[in-house]
Amino acid sequence: MNISKKYSIGLLAVVMLLASCNETTKKEKMKEENTAASEKTVETSLNEADFDTEIDGKPVKLYWLKNGDLQMAMTNYGGRIVGLWTPDKNGKMTDVIIGRRSTMAYVDGPESYFGATIGRVGNRIAKGKFKVEGKEYSVKPNNNANALHGGENGFQDKVWEANQSNDYTLVLQYTSPDGEEGFPGELDAKVTYSLIDEHTLKIDYEATTDKTTVVNLTNHAYFNLNGEGSGTILDHKMQIFAEEFTPVDEGLIPTGELRKVEGTPFDFTGPHTIGERIDANNEQLKFGGGYDHNFVLGSQRSDGMNQAAKVVGDKSGILMQVYTEEPGVQFYTGNFMASKNALKSGAKDDKRTAFCLETQHFPDAPNHPDFPSIELKPGDTYHTVTEYRFSTE
Ligand code: BGC
Repeated sequence: MNISKKYSIGLLAVVMLLASCNETTKKEKMKEENTAASEKTVETSLNEADFDTEIDGKPVKLYWLKNGDLQMAMTNYGGRIVGLWTPDKNGKMTDVIIGRRSTMAYVDGPESYFGATIGRVGNRIAKGKFKVEGKEYSVKPNNNANALHGGENGFQDKVWEANQSNDYTLVLQYTSPDGEEGFPGELDAKVTYSLIDEHTLKIDYEATTDKTTVVNLTNHAYFNLNGEGSGTILDHKMQIFAEEFTPVDEGLIPTGELRKVEGTPFDFTGPHTIGERIDANNEQLKFGGGYDHNFVLGSQRSDGMNQAAKVVGDKSGILMQVYTEEPGVQFYTGNFMASKNALKSGAKDDKRTAFCLETQHFPDAPNHPDFPSIELKPGDTYHTVTEYRFSTE
């Protein structure tokens, strides 16, 4: 054996030894992680019996979804996220969704949108009136003069047929009859909530119709990344990847303009705390009582989706990133929350103790031909995906 051969065999042995050590450390680490994962239990006051009921002759239940340390409770009443737990920077499981303790609490309101699947048309339609193929339709106004979130008995009040296909997926289906809330066509909606890995909640929306109609589905989760009931969200650090937003009138109906965010309190292209400019002397903020505006996405793309937002809870270090195929996101800072609802934690829903990032087509789209269209024709399938990705920093 010559020297160089001896040398290479020695080197190989060292490399193999190192690799096997590395393998052992990796395995140990995985074991540690698995143990840690299985040790992380969710502390919750939620009781399945408080959700078990029947509405309109249909069964309502609480469903649990789990993927590693990401866990979620949902009810098929309104297709709602009741709670969502993810580890904070110290590994403590933290419930980042505002929710209620029973089905009846959701039914009785007064806030009907907590965590709900919203449809047929998210946000406002001016005076509830719109045209499809030249014919006028009308949804009864339920928000001053305008129709909000699909009218008085929108999808948040429906019992969805639920099918839990595995530990981490819940498929919800609802058929909205022709003419329901004034919308044309029978609409078959299917929304799949899935914890696709231990960091990501994916919501996959699908719908078909038998007559040309309008559809703009979203989810109305109220987030507090420091944990439900932990105070205001004003110190959360927010970034929204939008160069423009759609300014509104006093009734929160878009004027049709796309306005640059630059130089305004709406510029979240760099990180700002939510509270930094929320009470600034600005007409748009006055109309909304804070932020309640649609931001125009598309300036930042990733994985074929628009990166909508990146937000961090100042106390928890929980980072949430929102990705969507939708062209807009409604950033709402809970300005109308008024301490009227008792939450899971026992706290009340005090003003600005949660925020929403509702991915969507723009509000009042049917009345703005320049906005991306929300029309759906028979034979076509409405399909859109939004992901909420969680980590810590
Ligand atoms: C709207 C708010 C509204 C809230 C009701 C949000 O999507 O933008 O204006 O008050 O829903 O929960």
